[in-house]
Amino acid sequence: MTQPRSHIASMAAYALARTEVPDGKPLVSLSQNESLRGPSPKAVDAASKAASAAALYPDPDWSGLRQALAAHHRIDAGAILCGNGSLDLIGCLARVYASPARAVLAPAHAYPFFKTASQMADARFDTAPERDARVDVNALLSAVRPDTGLVFVANPGNPTGTRIPKADLIALREGLRGDILLVIDEAYGEFADHLHERCFDMVADGNTVILRTFSKAYGLAGFRVGWGYFPAAIAAELRKVMNPNNLSGAAQAAAIAAIADQAYMAETCRLTAKHRDRAVDLLQGAGFKTLPSFTNFILIDLHTSKAVQSVDAALRAEGIVLRPQGGAGLPQMLRMTVGPEKAMRAAIDILTAWKKEAQF
Ligand SMILES: Cc1ncc(COP(=O)(O)O)c(C=O)c1O
Repeated sequence: MTQPRSHIASMAAYALARTEVPDGKPLVSLSQNESLRGPSPKAVDAASKAASAAALYPDPDWSGLRQALAAHHRIDAGAILCGNGSLDLIGCLARVYASPARAVLAPAHAYPFFKTASQMADARFDTAPERDARVDVNALLSAVRPDTGLVFVANPGNPTGTRIPKADLIALREGLRGDILLVIDEAYGEFADHLHERCFDMVADGNTVILRTFSKAYGLAGFRVGWGYFPAAIAAELRKVMNPNNLSGAAQAAAIAAIADQAYMAETCRLTAKHRDRAVDLLQGAGFKTLPSFTNFILIDLHTSKAVQSVDAALRAEGIVLRPQGGAGLPQMLRMTVGPEKAMRAAIDILTAWKKEAQF
């Protein structure tokens, strides 16, 4: 029988959230950090209009989308590349810049796809300890080895929810060798934009990339639109490994309309923060420990992996799925996406009842 390449044979596929629930129970997912509400109606309208052009290949240069992003963020349209979700861009970056001779480094509780992308490139994946689920720049710099070629950090982090001040990112960049690519993944950036300084200017050094997505605050996870801000030389290499028609016309049209409707996105962020902070109050009131979050999810510290399994089972029995975090090296933590109010209330009621009965 034909054999796959050995590094592919030995790796596991990326584990998405498990969504099995008992027969007859409607699935309520608070597991994938999707938006608590649908996209802007203007994005839906633009996508449905674009669907009539589906016989044609989409714009391979994402021209309208790049212009819209550049105008909104006051950045250079020519330095933007779009991906089929930011997952696509993370995979392409690893394909170009990681290899058996160029290892990848990330914080201990980083977004697990960074590891998967490294494995796909047959690169060693190193981690550096975090402090209280916060990225520790000094620990990352101490973990750099002679063959380190690529460093991934997410800001804010997933699943930690914590954020890295820009001054720390600058210190990280300044402490890294010039031949190491630094990728700053800002998938949750819109939820924290009011709190921290923009980092797009860091790309000017030629060795730093910023990634963003429409999957979170813009509520377009199903359309798969990610994008990044790249030094020209890196963008040119990435183009070689990208699917040349990676984003459907409907997805591009939806994203352009979503950017134009900033009021809708800002309201999504406002509602998310309101429901998140209310949920944190309720959870803490019920005796749960939560981590500070600058995102659309809450990380609940249940102290043991057995407690996570127990509460996960109690929630699943009612059709509610949260996300245990063993995959990110936090087996004692359960992550709850800030979803629709009714779903959040149902989940918190079960968690509270569990806490009263639990032996943990
Ligand atoms: C930190 C981080 N980066 C990237 C992604 C992938 O996002 P996309 O839907 O754009 O592929 C996620 C999704 O949860 C994420 O949490």
